[in-house]
Amino acid sequence: MDPIINAVLEPKSIAIVGASADPEKIGYKVVANLIAGGYEGAIYPINPKSEEILGHKCYASVKDVPYVIDAAIITVPAKFVHGVTQECGEKGVKGISIITSGFSEVGEHELEEQVVKTAREFGMRIIGPNIIGVLSNSGKMNASFASQLPLNGTAGLISQSGALLIAMIAATYTRRVGFDKMLSIGNQSDLDFADLVTYLAEDDVTSCITLYIEGIKDGARFMEAARNCDKPIIALKAGTSEHGAAAAASHTGSLAGSSKVYEAAFKQVGVTQADDLNDLFDRTLALSLQPRMQGDNLLILTNGGGVGVLATDAAEKYGLPLKFAPPEVQAELKKHMPDFGSAKNPVDITGGAGLKGYYEGVKYSYAHPWVDGMAILYCETAVTNPLEIAEAIYKALQDSGTTGKPVTVSFVGGERCDTATAWLIEKGIPTYNAPDIAVKALATLRQDQLMSETTHSAPYKPTDINPEKAREIIAGARAKGRDALTEVEAKHVFAAYGLPVTPTELAKTEEEAIKLANEIGFPIVMKIVSPDILHKSDAGAVKVNIKNDDDVREAWKVIMENSLKYKADAEIDGMAVQEMAPWSTEVIVGSVNDATFGPTVMFGLGGIFVEVLKDVTFRVAPIDEDEALRMQNEIKSAQILHGARGESPRDMAKLASILAHYSYMIYDLKDEIAESDANPCLVYEEGKGVAVVDARIILTKK
Ligand code: ACO
Repeated sequence: MDPIINAVLEPKSIAIVGASADPEKIGYKVVANLIAGGYEGAIYPINPKSEEILGHKCYASVKDVPYVIDAAIITVPAKFVHGVTQECGEKGVKGISIITSGFSEVGEHELEEQVVKTAREFGMRIIGPNIIGVLSNSGKMNASFASQLPLNGTAGLISQSGALLIAMIAATYTRRVGFDKMLSIGNQSDLDFADLVTYLAEDDVTSCITLYIEGIKDGARFMEAARNCDKPIIALKAGTSEHGAAAAASHTGSLAGSSKVYEAAFKQVGVTQADDLNDLFDRTLALSLQPRMQGDNLLILTNGGGVGVLATDAAEKYGLPLKFAPPEVQAELKKHMPDFGSAKNPVDITGGAGLKGYYEGVKYSYAHPWVDGMAILYCETAVTNPLEIAEAIYKALQDSGTTGKPVTVSFVGGERCDTATAWLIEKGIPTYNAPDIAVKALATLRQDQLMSETTHSAPYKPTDINPEKAREIIAGARAKGRDALTEVEAKHVFAAYGLPVTPTELAKTEEEAIKLANEIGFPIVMKIVSPDILHKSDAGAVKVNIKNDDDVREAWKVIMENSLKYKADAEIDGMAVQEMAPWSTEVIVGSVNDATFGPTVMFGLGGIFVEVLKDVTFRVAPIDEDEALRMQNEIKSAQILHGARGESPRDMAKLASILAHYSYMIYDLKDEIAESDANPCLVYEEGKGVAVVDARIILTKK
């Protein structure tokens, strides 16, 4: 653990610079909160006007404090923060939390940079500015102006919004989701999400990391921190605007919005994405209290058919479809229910089930090796007392002698169910007021297990590539003042990175076109090559199925005429003469350079699937072939690749290799390629490969 970061977040002594005797001021509240929270370290209020604040001796400057200061909390107006930072540095303070607002969030970038520069000169770390502070139950430290510590628990929160963090603290009590640490991250001038995720990953108390994110500063650092974290991470990402997408020059650019790239990055590094605040709390409760689910066998035990059906629907929706329990499990469970109960799955012990029914049913099922996870449902009835049922469930789980297996509970009913819910959560059992949420929570634990198994592979790097050749082609185009490659150039770059492009060469004259066509072999395709005509089909500048020399001559004439009709002064380099690949399943592979995460690869089925349905998926580059296969299986129309309506399955393995090579190309050439498309790629049946028939590369601005 980084000792300096540790000193900022778990200080043994704290100076509050800007502490005030005025109870209305933030500088007063921080001192009062530290005291009220039971902070056991030293508290040094700093204010030149006061002798003492809330019983603690006050100093005019941190430099006057004759003791070691681990962290300073700064609550003076923005214009004084730099001077205070300098004094903290001179005093040897290890790090500062800057509560003050009025920095980069309102455009005062220079002021913020000045503070960071000075802090760095002294080796200090900064959390903030523009934060509410840092809270820790285990450290008995409320170093913030939020009036209370959160409900005690083991989740750890990092929030980019201060106001939301204060609201969430209050909500922890009504939602009964316990947190140990809550960190307000503000402008991330120095310590950012990556640093704090790493800190919580190494923290002994934190069992699960919960994030509220508006924007990550450095995507690659965040991904590395999340990838290296063995604990579950769940994030709520706010801001789903797709701004800028419309102006993008390539097809992929218009489909890739920043929220899609966040979604991709989260998937790749094993971060569960929450839908909204309620969902964030629901899933945090399960992730912080229960182990991951090791297999897919979910058993639902219920006293009500209705909630059983709702839970069954949810199981399918969240990716854990129910299977019937094995015959021996059914036979044993039958002994603990009336004849009209059902021992299949969901196991319906019926509305008449009492303490004994729940106790025996839960104890046996939870211990059975077939069961990987269990959702226990209860509907309030006239003949049962919810709290007693909760106690029976808990005792059964304890008596089963089983550990390491997740369980969630749902109690549907009134106030008595609320009491039982609170009691079970207190005992470490995530309990909800709806059956679908109990199942969703379990599915999250399963999903988290699956992600933890797949997110730790080393970065992908193919060997059969020729980067020098690709850079040479790009340099050639740049030398001619172009910011987009021609199709022929783009295909040569693709080929240098091991992509199977259809042979394509540039003909500058009609005679050259005839010669190339004969070399490549008929039938061929001809297309205009012009930096001024990117959408060739729209211009009528593509001819297919050209079968002989005469066809070549005719195509040359028509394409030239159409191109000049489309743009009279178009600069024309010649015509691409290319092999006509036999038509097959069309897919699109493309890329954008995301501002946060860098080069990002896109995959989807071509034609109507991409144009109308926008059935595409993204990953931050580079990806390996396993991740590429996951992309292929993730699109809604994946069944077409697996072979739908009598078609034979497509060559998924070759396609995965191509996606992996493509992702490496855009990663390796990120300084050169802004956007690119291989559209369409034709995927043939298993073992017969893929052909990239069109290629586009738009260069970065230099
Ligand atoms: N050293 C020590 N004390 C100093 C210094 C100094 N160099 N300079 C000023 N002080 C004292 C002041 O004299 C004052 O003490 P006093 O009450 O005895 O006079 C105290 O520091 C505070 O200074 P004020 O000028 O009174 O400033 P005020 O308390 O009104 O505001 C604050 C300061 C809170 C930092 C304000 O500038 C600010 O940024 N507020 C927003 C904070 C915030 O909301 N952050 C979280 C954002 S996230 C969210 O959404 C909630």
